[in-house]
Amino acid sequence: AAAEKGGYDYFMLKEIAEQPKAVADTLLGRIDEAGNLTLDEVRISAAELREMDKIVIVACGTAFHAGLIAKYAIEHWTRIPCEVELASEFRYRDPILDAQTLVIAISQSGETMDTLMALRHAREQGSRVLAICNTNGSTIPRESDAVLYTHAGPEIAVASTKAFLTQLVACYLVALYLGQVRGTKWGDEVQAVIRDLSRISGAVERVLETMEPVRKLARSLADKNTVLFLGRHVGYPVALEGALKLKELAYMHAEGFAAGELKHGPIALIEEDLPVVVVVPSPRGRSVLHDKIVSNIQEIRARGARTIVIAEEGDEAVVPYADHLIRIPATPTLLQPLVATVPLQVFACELATARGNEVDQPRNLAKSVTVE
Ligand code: AGP
Repeated sequence: AAAEKGGYDYFMLKEIAEQPKAVADTLLGRIDEAGNLTLDEVRISAAELREMDKIVIVACGTAFHAGLIAKYAIEHWTRIPCEVELASEFRYRDPILDAQTLVIAISQSGETMDTLMALRHAREQGSRVLAICNTNGSTIPRESDAVLYTHAGPEIAVASTKAFLTQLVACYLVALYLGQVRGTKWGDEVQAVIRDLSRISGAVERVLETMEPVRKLARSLADKNTVLFLGRHVGYPVALEGALKLKELAYMHAEGFAAGELKHGPIALIEEDLPVVVVVPSPRGRSVLHDKIVSNIQEIRARGARTIVIAEEGDEAVVPYADHLIRIPATPTLLQPLVATVPLQVFACELATARGNEVDQPRNLAKSVTVE
């Protein structure tokens, strides 16, 4: 078993470390030399894709968080309305679907019963289903019209890490491909992002090299009861993912919020020394978002929160308000989750270890949930 873990104490640590390769493998062969996407596997024709007037993403857990991030990318690059829904909710609420709806089912295992039921329901309504899946020949891709495989390799730890990053890559590829096929006004940006995406695994590698302070911080918080996570834009689903990892692994109360919602309730939770992780968008580009989150950090810190700030290298505006600062490489706004999620995985894994929990097999959980 030690050999299987490649020298790591846990599969989760091994899988976190494998992320740069998983990301690179998922991009491999899908971007040609001219910088165009060649998603031949998507066996839904370009003509059909041009006809689609709605996209619905269904998934559970971590895969659902990938879907939430995909929505920002899809709507921005393709201008096609996109909804994201928990597969377990979707199926039982009479959703509106037709032949012009493209349904994207995201699943690492390809065996999650709720997601499978959602895709069956969608196909019964005449919708086309594209699966994003990590397991060759599993049920979800077999029952879909097309599949884009993530190439994360087998993920053994119950808590999803490398599969999540590759789901994000696959979602970006689909969004960019749809943008390419439909020729949106973002043509130049799409080309530039494809280039950035093709280099992103190096950025993930760099994050992994700087994780020691994050581990130390996690150990110092082992006796806390609650950790909150805040983000805006694509940082919001990253906050949700950070909170889910902490629940699963550390068995701690953890919640993710959209930072803009603070004043609508969650700020009442802030008390002296409460750890709050904040995912900060890039100060470049959409700087309005950045400035808003810096005010959010000031607000919670003024109320005693211990701020753990994840911010891009060179972002100096956050420095005065960060009790702990975690640096990530600069990326285009929409791609930031690929680097911002990694410290949260490491944080949760280390807290689980510090609390004496079983990292690879958290209590009460199964790797794939094949029952409803
Ligand atoms: C993630 O850490 C979880 N263990 C869980 O939320 C998982 O992502 C979810 O059950 C979906 O699984 P799937 O991707 O295999 O469909």
